[in-house]
Amino acid sequence: MDNLIEIKDVYKSFGKKEAKVEALRGISLSVAEGEMVSVMGKSGSGKSTLLNILGGMMSYDSGEYIYAGKPVNSKNQRELTRFRRNEIGFVVQYFALVDDLNVFQNVALPLKYQGYSGSKIKRMVNETLKELEIDDKVKAYPNELSGGQQQRVAIARAVVKQPRVILADEPTGALDEATGEAVQDIFRRLNEKGKTVIIVTHDAKVAEKCGRIIRLRDGVVQDEMLSAVTADNGGVIL
Ligand SMILES: Nc1ncnc2c1ncn2[C@@H]1O[C@H](COP(=O)(O)OP(=O)(O)OP(=O)(O)O)[C@@H](O)[C@H]1O
Ligand SMILES: [Mg+2]
Repeated sequence: MDNLIEIKDVYKSFGKKEAKVEALRGISLSVAEGEMVSVMGKSGSGKSTLLNILGGMMSYDSGEYIYAGKPVNSKNQRELTRFRRNEIGFVVQYFALVDDLNVFQNVALPLKYQGYSGSKIKRMVNETLKELEIDDKVKAYPNELSGGQQQRVAIARAVVKQPRVILADEPTGALDEATGEAVQDIFRRLNEKGKTVIIVTHDAKVAEKCGRIIRLRDGVVQDEMLSAVTADNGGVIL
């Protein structure tokens, strides 16, 4: 498998002078197309910063980000926006749905930004809601849904435009265990269909179900290992 995502020696800091915080300190890693990877590490180790950079949501100070063999220029906002819209689906812990839009309208949003026609939007949204088994709630508003249902809608919104990569920051962090497992299964199914998935998590059970675990410490990769799922299939624990 070729690397879809490759970052080399990336630095990112926030603030200036005494208030300066170095969130990433020369981090390097790569993810192959079709891989499912988890990122773990203590609070403040740089996980969200890393994910935001990978998703084109944030610029980095130095280093390189190569996506599908081409550099992602994080200083060029227009290019970055296009990259994000075309390639990335992003899921966060607290769902980030728009409260006064119903399920259909929430999931339709990214397609509207891309300028699809009404009939195409309708077809794509309905197909995605069905796939995520949330189509019975198409007219409901976020506050009428359970946490697990809201997260399924948020995942639908992230995948409706068919991105190659799904980035999720603590996607099961606000859910009870059973609901979290169901959400985890959704990511696995998406991965089986070929999506490259990167999940930031504190939950070792979630991480174990990914093929590889990358552990961050103080803004660099501390270690990486193949998870039991992969190792049982003849992989080697690194
Ligand atoms: N917008 C920001 N402004 C200033 N400092 C920031 C900003 N975002 C992150 N940081 C700092 O950068 C470091 C890394 O933060 P980051 O959010 O990436 O950690 P994390 O691993 O995601 O932590 P958590 O597990 O708590 O979500 C922290 O010290 C944090 O305080
Ligand atoms: Mg975080």
